[in-house]
Amino acid sequence: MNDVAARILLRLSKAGDFLSGEELCREFCITRSAVWKHIKLLRAEGYHVDAVTGIGYRLTSLTGRPVEAEVAPFLTVRRFGRSILYHEVTPSTNILAKSLASDGLPEGCVVVADAQTGGRGRMGRTWVSPAGVNLYFSLILRPEVPSIRVPQLTLLVAAAIHQALGTVVPGIAPMVKWPNDILIKGRKVCGVLCEMQSEPDFTHFVVVGVGINVNQSEMPSELQDSATSLFLETGRLVSRPELLASFLNHFEPLYDAWLLEEDLGFILPYLERYSLLQSKQVTIDQLKRTVSGTVSGIARGGELMLDAADGQTTLISSGEAHLQKRTL
Ligand code: BTN
Repeated sequence: MNDVAARILLRLSKAGDFLSGEELCREFCITRSAVWKHIKLLRAEGYHVDAVTGIGYRLTSLTGRPVEAEVAPFLTVRRFGRSILYHEVTPSTNILAKSLASDGLPEGCVVVADAQTGGRGRMGRTWVSPAGVNLYFSLILRPEVPSIRVPQLTLLVAAAIHQALGTVVPGIAPMVKWPNDILIKGRKVCGVLCEMQSEPDFTHFVVVGVGINVNQSEMPSELQDSATSLFLETGRLVSRPELLASFLNHFEPLYDAWLLEEDLGFILPYLERYSLLQSKQVTIDQLKRTVSGTVSGIARGGELMLDAADGQTTLISSGEAHLQKRTL
């Protein structure tokens, strides 16, 4: 969709009623035939737009794509998501958002794609990103904090996603798996990949990349044991625009609170309550070693607190956690 059509769509969606062709011509500085051309384009994209001679145009149905015009009606926050750059397909919204952030795109802008051809996960993995069903987005942040605090954002984002799922899809009992996953009944439904450009004392920007399996009706066979979608768990289609807006509505106030605080202390009770690993025996694969123990909590800095058999507690700041199989 071109930029003018997208802006006309946003205008019609905000109006919620008829807008005259004359008004649209004036607002977008285009001719009547150009307005008509864009309306036909919107119809071709699946939007229903009434056209009544002498009265104007009215949007009567949306498509469920996570575009700005469809997300905006659900937004209650002021900064995040007020600008959404939507792409039908892109290699990776994180890659695109990093390049746009380097060019100066402000905090709060969101890059969304309907499909990714090179979706990236943590530890060099790929993120399977088929078209038309899921959410793939990257939010640009410019926190004025030392870069050492930035990894805490991953858990803060996970908390906001958890809250959004509770709001939009109640009853699915999602759990947060430190440091960046959301699981339902042991299967992953969402992953977070935060990337930053920084110097020790200064963070230029952070790109918060989120992938949520929303309406995918089948998982590739190699992922069937480990991944799921909201549709597979509930049998119901979930509105992608509403879920994206709900995440932003929950995340903006958490982020503002986090900027004022020293650490994650204010959200720890929530994170520990919904932590999949809490009080569990786990093995953590790190780059150069593997450590095991019982999880006794999450530290204020976002590290996992791991108690060894000798009672010593270690703070783990990175790695991939695996639940140990229970032995009888
Ligand atoms: C993980 O669990 O390993 C993190 C997955 C993050 C996937 C999202 S999809 C949107 C954004 N763009 C990417 O290329 N990756 C993130």
